[in-house]
Amino acid sequence: MNKHIKQAPVIWLLGLSGAGKTTIAYQLQKLFTEANRSSLILDGDELRLGINKDLGFSKNDRAENIRRTAELASIVSNNGIITICSLITPLQQYRTLAASIIGERYYEIFVDCPLEICEQRDVKGLYQKAKTGELKEFTGISSSFESPVAPFLKVHSYTESSETCARLIFDSIGF
Ligand code: ADX
Repeated sequence: MNKHIKQAPVIWLLGLSGAGKTTIAYQLQKLFTEANRSSLILDGDELRLGINKDLGFSKNDRAENIRRTAELASIVSNNGIITICSLITPLQQYRTLAASIIGERYYEIFVDCPLEICEQRDVKGLYQKAKTGELKEFTGISSSFESPVAPFLKVHSYTESSETCARLIFDSIGF
């Protein structure tokens, strides 16, 4: 680890598919850029196209998905760059894993949006596929999602705009 560089926060956005994590991540990055801070987004969908292409949605694969992402985030943070991770992270055990890898610079943010709203939005058409059984182990339908017990912050993406959610997160981190 580079002792001359201050570790940067790792902002871990979690929540259901369609809750608005990715949109908030980009809004948040915009705020950091305006504050002259470098940041990097690690988004579940994007990681699964490349570095995590070999992983599916079983419990073990999700844990490995989170482990790799947390390890990457940790390296980025050690280089003084803020990392914004955006992954469903459906179970408490995965969040504990991420927190244990990242340490005290881990900021857990729950992007809270009711399942019914995510289903109605169904931006990617995945909830429909999950309900017909075409898509297996889908979070919220055929695979569980545990609401976090004590997140650092919870934002309500169904009542607040993504800009407002990003601003609340930005302010809570203390820049
Ligand atoms: S996590 O559970 O391992 O944290 P991650 O955030 O990386 O999930 O990936 C979730 C994204 O993968 C969803 O937003 C969705 O686009 C896609 N996806 C495809 N199949 C599934 C599934 N069975 N469950 C959840 N998301 C899925």
